[in-house]
Amino acid sequence: MTREGTSTLIRREDYLAPAFWIRKVELCFDLDPLKTIVTSKMQVERNAAVAHGPLKLHGEEINVLRVLINGESVSFRTEDDTLVIDNAPDADFALEIRNTCCPEKNTALSGLYTSGGSFFTQCEAEGFRRITYFLDRPDVMAVYTVLMRADKTKYPVLLSNGNLVEQGELDNNRHFAKWHDPFPKPSYLFALVAGDLVAREQRVRTRGGKDHLLQVFVRRGDLEKTEHAMNSLIASMVWDEARFKLPLDLERFMVVGVSDFNMGAMENKGLNIFNTSALLASPATSTDADFSRIESIVAHEYFHNWTGNRVTCRDWFQLSLKEGLTVFRDQEFSMDMAAAPSARAVCRIQDVRQLRAMQFPEDSGAMAHPVRPDSYVEINNFYTATVYEKGAEVVRMYQTLVGRAGFEKGMTLYFERHDGQAVTCDDFAQAMADANPGSELTKRLDAFKRWYSTPGTPRVTARGSYDAISRTYTLTLSQQNNGAAPQVIPVAMGLIGHGGQVLPLELQGEAEYHGNERVLVLDQAEQSFTFLNVFVEPVPSLLRGFSAPVLLDDGLSDADLLTLLTHDTDAFNRWEAGQRLALNRILAAVRSGTPLQLDAAYVDAMRSVLNHPQLDAAFKELALTLPGEAYIAEQLDVVDPQAIHAAVEAAQLQLAQALRADWVAAFEANGTIAGGYQPDPVSVGKRSLANLALAMLVLDTQAADAAVWQGRAYQRFKDAGNMTDRLGALAALVNGGAGLADSALERFHALFKADPLVVDKWFALQGRAPEREGRTFAKVKALLKHPDFTLKNPNRARSLIFSLCMFNPAAFHRADAAGYVFWADQVLALDAINPQVAGRLARAMDRWTTLTEPYRPAALEAIRRVAAKPDLSPDVREIVERALA
Ligand code: PHE
Ligand code: ZN
Repeated sequence: MTREGTSTLIRREDYLAPAFWIRKVELCFDLDPLKTIVTSKMQVERNAAVAHGPLKLHGEEINVLRVLINGESVSFRTEDDTLVIDNAPDADFALEIRNTCCPEKNTALSGLYTSGGSFFTQCEAEGFRRITYFLDRPDVMAVYTVLMRADKTKYPVLLSNGNLVEQGELDNNRHFAKWHDPFPKPSYLFALVAGDLVAREQRVRTRGGKDHLLQVFVRRGDLEKTEHAMNSLIASMVWDEARFKLPLDLERFMVVGVSDFNMGAMENKGLNIFNTSALLASPATSTDADFSRIESIVAHEYFHNWTGNRVTCRDWFQLSLKEGLTVFRDQEFSMDMAAAPSARAVCRIQDVRQLRAMQFPEDSGAMAHPVRPDSYVEINNFYTATVYEKGAEVVRMYQTLVGRAGFEKGMTLYFERHDGQAVTCDDFAQAMADANPGSELTKRLDAFKRWYSTPGTPRVTARGSYDAISRTYTLTLSQQNNGAAPQVIPVAMGLIGHGGQVLPLELQGEAEYHGNERVLVLDQAEQSFTFLNVFVEPVPSLLRGFSAPVLLDDGLSDADLLTLLTHDTDAFNRWEAGQRLALNRILAAVRSGTPLQLDAAYVDAMRSVLNHPQLDAAFKELALTLPGEAYIAEQLDVVDPQAIHAAVEAAQLQLAQALRADWVAAFEANGTIAGGYQPDPVSVGKRSLANLALAMLVLDTQAADAAVWQGRAYQRFKDAGNMTDRLGALAALVNGGAGLADSALERFHALFKADPLVVDKWFALQGRAPEREGRTFAKVKALLKHPDFTLKNPNRARSLIFSLCMFNPAAFHRADAAGYVFWADQVLALDAINPQVAGRLARAMDRWTTLTEPYRPAALEAIRRVAAKPDLSPDVREIVERALA
């Protein structure tokens, strides 16, 4: 592969409307793995608003055979990745291009490729140009008709977007199908699939009385694993109609699974394509976490049909317009599905944990960028936690500022104005503001929009003072983000007395009384709020439900945090108080360089949570799980990953030891669930707490009954009735360094070797196992040579390599730099196969500048070695150059 001159910086401020529009496309595919012939007939129009100029089409790794304008051949030239026609007519014209591509050799999995003997496409963001020459940009929207011709035996199923209009037989054992999608769409939403697939089908009638056919296509053996996805799809349809009045607009909605896929899934119009890991589920092979991930990804792709497809992005800088909004929608859906208030809080806690683990480090690292980036080299590098998860937090803040009903009004106006258009984040903001005149949002819309343009996580400081004589409480909030202008930060809050009293909130200078929970809007560098008639000294419960994506320093004492942990009416902040207690202890140990020693107050608090008669098992599991190492690292200016890991391990072991009897009780109470497997919130919570308890019981190898619990874990692993229990028991053995771990791992592999998604779990568990004298690292290196390992399948590459480099800091950051050497080798090897996946792995070094000696110089050397490679993909080049900048 040769790569030349591809690293140009693209800037948001340089946006220009296209010089031409393509209104209609007729595509014809003669499908062949080695040489597919594509004929594209386009109806082209000059954009009158743009000055006269040549027609330039994007194309990559394709061979053009001929170009005709209005049926006549025309002269053209190809420059790098563009096809230029200098003499395009002024009047509307028909453009026909014929070209070939090679799906079999397409290991990048972008464009048209083969997987398991079938054909699939992936066009977002810029994959369509790898299929045929086109104006491959999201503001060029066309109506597509697609004719596919292929061998009937190998490819009995032929699918594309929209409705099937015709199909039939051809000579030479070939057949054809013709599809028409009535909705104009950008090229990134085009898709086709051809292969030997089978479908689960379901007919549904929506509220408006329209009938639809839902289909989930998979390989023959996988049909039984599609029930959960189908149920999730139906639930998503019902929810979107009920909550946002958004119906399905197609007669047929298809979902297809593929084993080789770069991301989770893709929202192609009417033909969603899914990584099998985000689609297939069965109790025997999938964990509770898989079931919930599948539900939310199926929903996410379905919701894109409105937020992404009907209203799409003008340019890729607006990516969060569809992604932030759609993540917000899938989060809301999952919460509504969880139903019970406590289960909703569990969803929220999990989302925030994910944000803190992935987005916070991103926002302070080499790849920090605003939710709406200002520039990029390779757009694939900007499908990030910031665009997705922080983008979703920004959408959530609109809802917090205008209320749920106001948000729904804003959505309605957004679709009234922009249905069928390619628009910007500004358009969304304007619709929200215009639909809610006089709201807290509309009053300060320009300031609020800084969330789109300011990188970094704002730090909010809160200090309160109570005056017992006047019975007033003054809360002073301030914010700081590397000198950037203040953001509009909604701070949902309440006041709690040390005895657990919920105190009324009467804000000085305000006529209305707001009850005992309200949102303060912090939009200055510093602001004070005085509450009247506060009859006891309060503990402030701030940022309830994590009402803004900020780092909060509320200066609360242990006593205050214990009050919140016990009494806060906001479940999120109860959890947060427990996390803060743990974080303070871990940070103190790391900062002082002394071994961590948990105190009785903390241990007792955790014991009360664990034994609490009213709290849900799911909440207990979250509260007793220590903060993640990446989030801990974010609190420090200089990071020693080994010190953080040692402190977390010590805390874990001490909790295991001090609460042993309580863990036994928790395991006995939650370890067996009557009846068949159900992924409902109550059962999921019980299984998660039982798994944590078992892990704790196996972890303490010094306990008198250590052997008993190791044996019980092994037995449970062998006899488990579902994957959640089985993997939980296996993880307890592996992570606890139990003697039985190796034989359990062997047995697991033997049982599931035919199921690639389970083999991925087997690799991942070993890649993430706690480091013990270098054995984990050595094991991972050995596993690279395992017959089941391959870099070509992204799921498999992630399961082993990403597990080590991104999710196992103690094994990765080695004093001898071998982890970084491993990283560099794998980035380079992957880059030759799949630049998108290599670019992701390259990001394991995002935070190298904060590392302490000897890690920092060793990391730098490894990054330099990657950067020195002359023919790097633009994907990896952008990441390593930003790391070195
Ligand atoms: N648009 C997809 C989603 O978020 C993600 C994706 C991006 C998939 C690029 C493939 C390639 O649903
Ligand atoms: Zn998406």
